[in-house]
Amino acid sequence: MSGELLDVVPVMPVVVLERLADAVPVARALVAGGLPAIELTLRTDVALDAIRAIADEVPEILIGAGTIVRPEQAGQAAAAGARFLVSPGTTPALLAAMADTGLPFLPGTASVSEVLAVLEAGFTEMKFFPAEAAGGAAYLRSIASPVPEARFCPTGGVTPATAADYLALPNVGCVGGSWLTPAAALAAGDYARIEALARAAAAR
Ligand code: 3PG
Repeated sequence: MSGELLDVVPVMPVVVLERLADAVPVARALVAGGLPAIELTLRTDVALDAIRAIADEVPEILIGAGTIVRPEQAGQAAAAGARFLVSPGTTPALLAAMADTGLPFLPGTASVSEVLAVLEAGFTEMKFFPAEAAGGAAYLRSIASPVPEARFCPTGGVTPATAADYLALPNVGCVGGSWLTPAAALAAGDYARIEALARAAAAR
């Protein structure tokens, strides 16, 4: 799937779930809003079960696992039904573990040296994280000419206001953000709000 992960949706919802019960309704709201993909972060106890539930009950969404920070999490996420993997940074062990699953994945990068290391390993699609803090759209614009092979999903501090700046760059396929699933909307079970935020983002 390399070469395609960045082209599924213009905005990748980065989702942090505290309650397993939100998993399926959130996935359905994102699909209804026109964003049929999720990077579900492995930051909470329910994350793997949430991936399993979405994979079982909302097969039309491309469910991925984010915040892969330890090699063993790659296989756990794949076993739960994740169809792609995302890490905030890259180590040789993480890269090997993600590649071993056979799934497409976005290894995290924040510097030219890290980008070159990922390219050397044979992968051209990556996450740029934390995007705003690491230099934002200006940084990615600066490296497009010297390192044209690399394509990015910038994530971390991206907002509806800055998304367009990134998406206009030749080396950006999509952006990622948590603004589509705000903690307050999740706490209130306000899935209509999530659907509306997805619809606005999908219209880009
Ligand atoms: C991520 O893991 O990609 C980030 O936590 C998402 O960043 P954001 O919350 O600033 O959108």
